[in-house]
Amino acid sequence: MNIEKNVEDDGVIFMSIKDGVENKEKNSPEVNEDVLILAIESSCDETAAAVVRNGREVLSNIISSQIALHTIYGGVVPEIASRKHVEKMNGCIRAALSEAGVTLGDIDAVAVTYGPGLVGALLVGVSEAKAISFATGKPLIGVHHIEGHISANFIENKDLEPPFVCLVVSGGHSHLVVVKDYGEYEIIGQTRDDAAGEAFDKVARAIGLGYPGGPKIDKAAKEGNPDAFTFPQAKIGDAEYDFSFSGLKSSVLNYINQAKMQGQELNQADVAASFQKAVVEVLVSHAIKACKEYGYNKLAIAGGVASNSGLRELMEKECEANKINFYRPSPVLCTDNAAMIGAAAYYEYKKGVRFGLDMNAVPNLPLGDRERRFHGRSRA
Ligand code: KG4
Ligand code: ZN
Repeated sequence: MNIEKNVEDDGVIFMSIKDGVENKEKNSPEVNEDVLILAIESSCDETAAAVVRNGREVLSNIISSQIALHTIYGGVVPEIASRKHVEKMNGCIRAALSEAGVTLGDIDAVAVTYGPGLVGALLVGVSEAKAISFATGKPLIGVHHIEGHISANFIENKDLEPPFVCLVVSGGHSHLVVVKDYGEYEIIGQTRDDAAGEAFDKVARAIGLGYPGGPKIDKAAKEGNPDAFTFPQAKIGDAEYDFSFSGLKSSVLNYINQAKMQGQELNQADVAASFQKAVVEVLVSHAIKACKEYGYNKLAIAGGVASNSGLRELMEKECEANKINFYRPSPVLCTDNAAMIGAAAYYEYKKGVRFGLDMNAVPNLPLGDRERRFHGRSRA
């Protein structure tokens, strides 16, 4: 993986992602028809900026990750996240423009995540994007964070077009979605309680792996026995595509408490592997079933948990067995980044969607056209 990394004095990790960045000279289609979007993301603990051409060509992809700062607290501290976004935002945007070899004058639109997420964190990106739009007169496009995650699939899979099924699994969301068209979604299943990433984070903390839990469980699971314990996989009678992870999480916590009381040593790797297996099997079986029952032969995965190696392996195997084409972004495009926001924004831009300077952050913004009409979106 080609990532230029630099740890700054305050512990923030500045990254320029070179993977998937297009060669600007080689790829220069009709200059006049190119749409260059400057995209901004600040919904959680990553400050990110990217320049994306025609929705699928990433000219630069900059991520400033605060993970190290939040690790000592065992999770993201919203106030720290907002302050760091303010400090890092301009530097990320400057780097994204300069690496893409463009100036604000070359940009056709500025796109930003306006929800869902932490309100103070979102507001930093939203205010920045509004300021750039006001100063340059360039159109402003608000993007739903989950729509961004789904659109990460378009970047490396140039041939992928809707309709397809997408499993979106992140720290805040577990959704099974039919992507009917660009920007048109039907949610067919979602979590009843914890999101998949949240379950990874909570279990990791309980077994002493710390934050962020997903990547740590993924790593530990490689050394463990996935059949050491059988943790329950919840079935939801009235909604076959919904998920529930809180029972599974409680069952792991009960096991840990029992082991402690009996003075047994906890085998972190075995617990991690068995927990991961239980989560992954539910995610894969729901997604494959949805493809078969709804009649789609294309399945994509998205969100931070989509970088999980166990999920990627089992999903690939099951897709092959069921003759379903499987799409997944590189791990670095599964977790939060701005390139995916630029990809989603392009299709909105083409549809004529423009936001006014009254755009606001919407921390609980729902996915789906019907709801989004109420959040200041308009057609030019
Ligand atoms: O999409 P994301 O970066 O942020 C949100 O929109 O929430 O997802 C972050 C979540 C965290 O819960 C993190 O533990 C999880 O994704 N995650 C993983 C892995 N990498 C990140 N979960 C399982 N395995 C991984 N390799
Ligand atoms: Zn995310």
